[in-house]
Amino acid sequence: MPKVWIETFGCQMNEWDSQAMLGTLVSLGWEPSSSPDEADLLILNTCSVRRKPEEKALSELGYLLKLKEIKPHILIGVAGCMAQRMGGELLKRFPALDFVIGTGQVQNIASVIDEARYRKVVATEIDGCVSTLPTFRSKPFKAYLPIIFGCNNFCSYCIVPFVRGRERSRPLKEILDEAKKLVEEGVIEITLLGQNVNAYGKDLNEGYTFSDLLYALGELPIKRIKFTTSHPKDFSPQLIEAIASIPQVCHWIHLPIQSGDDKILKLMNRGYTIAQYKQLVERIRERIPDVSLTTDVMVGFPGEGEEEFSNTLKTFEEIQFDQAYMFAYSPRPGTAAERLPGQVEQAEKLRRLKELVSLQNEISRRKNLAQLDRTLEVLVEDEDPKGKGYLVGKSRENKTVIFPGKKELIGKLVWVKPKEAFLWGFKGEIVDEEGKG
Ligand code: SAH
Ligand code: SF4
Ligand code: F3S
Repeated sequence: MPKVWIETFGCQMNEWDSQAMLGTLVSLGWEPSSSPDEADLLILNTCSVRRKPEEKALSELGYLLKLKEIKPHILIGVAGCMAQRMGGELLKRFPALDFVIGTGQVQNIASVIDEARYRKVVATEIDGCVSTLPTFRSKPFKAYLPIIFGCNNFCSYCIVPFVRGRERSRPLKEILDEAKKLVEEGVIEITLLGQNVNAYGKDLNEGYTFSDLLYALGELPIKRIKFTTSHPKDFSPQLIEAIASIPQVCHWIHLPIQSGDDKILKLMNRGYTIAQYKQLVERIRERIPDVSLTTDVMVGFPGEGEEEFSNTLKTFEEIQFDQAYMFAYSPRPGTAAERLPGQVEQAEKLRRLKELVSLQNEISRRKNLAQLDRTLEVLVEDEDPKGKGYLVGKSRENKTVIFPGKKELIGKLVWVKPKEAFLWGFKGEIVDEEGKG
């Protein structure tokens, strides 16, 4: 059987695209390979959100193409957001490359490969929705389910609307059927995906919203429903109610704030103020007291001076996120922010990033320490690579939990009493359901 190897950069949407390309190829007789050296087909599924992941993919590509000098029969392709952004330019830069497949073409992977055997292919059209595809998941008990593709928001720093196209929601029935199928396959946890899941349904004009979708999914025998990403400007009171009242919906909300300063938020075109964001957080915490709140933020956006940066620090002190993904602003080609005055020097961005990271690390640690009295439902995902006899999993709040246990428990739900808190999560011990207290 021919072997295929895919390396994925970027977000969960890219991971799903990889799972779908792999699933499609496996259904046609390909075998997944764990190393590029043994594969007949190599795909780099790339990310364009910052310069670094692009550079990493490009240097990796240069290395992989050398394999073709020894094994000319192998096929090498670039997929994902950088493939979408650069298209045919990639072929000019890397003449040995066989194909470029964009974000709207994952369902056509098989025909792209067939064609690439005879000629170079650039497939970068984005049209409509990708419908249900077979997926190949390394963890069979966890699945992503994309509900909306693309993004209409054009945050001024962001490349995603350029490389993923406009918002396209999948029909409600198709999502429900796919969810049913996943549950029948034994999936315990479904994570609904979209750049802005809160915009679900708007483009369909059928009157369905994201909360309606959650209620419909709540009727199915799914154990856990997670979703990402939420946009603060579209987070409705009905959605808070849905999360609070549907038992399967996990109490974890990823709510990117991006900056703690109103002037910067405006320049970013985010569509909310810090006061509005804080009010939203207050409403969420009032109705869902055990919620875990995570965020994305960047430092060094054009026009961010000491004052604006200190507002971000202050806002982080006030809100007390459970966890944050923190980035230095990276100018992206063709975005509005690339042309803004007041670009910040790299060294200064890194200094600010370090300061914010050390503040948030302290907050994450403290937040976890304050939760040692809880008992957590954990989906066991793997053996802990660092501790023999230990397992690692994720709680409903999406926190990492490590505990001693037998590997037969992988893919099962257990109750864990946390004993020690860390910045990344907890170490604890399994208790039975009665002992959950
Ligand atoms: N759709 C999601 C995620 C988009 S990309 C959302 O709306 O939040 C994930 C994160 O990368 C963003 O939340 C942002 O914090 C960061 N990001 C996006 N563009 C960036 C850029 N040009 N430089 C640095 N970080 C960026
Ligand atoms: Fe990018 Fe903004 Fe869309 Fe998120 S909401 S993908 S940050 S444009
Ligand atoms: Fe990267 Fe594309 Fe996701 S740019 S963050 S892989 S949508």
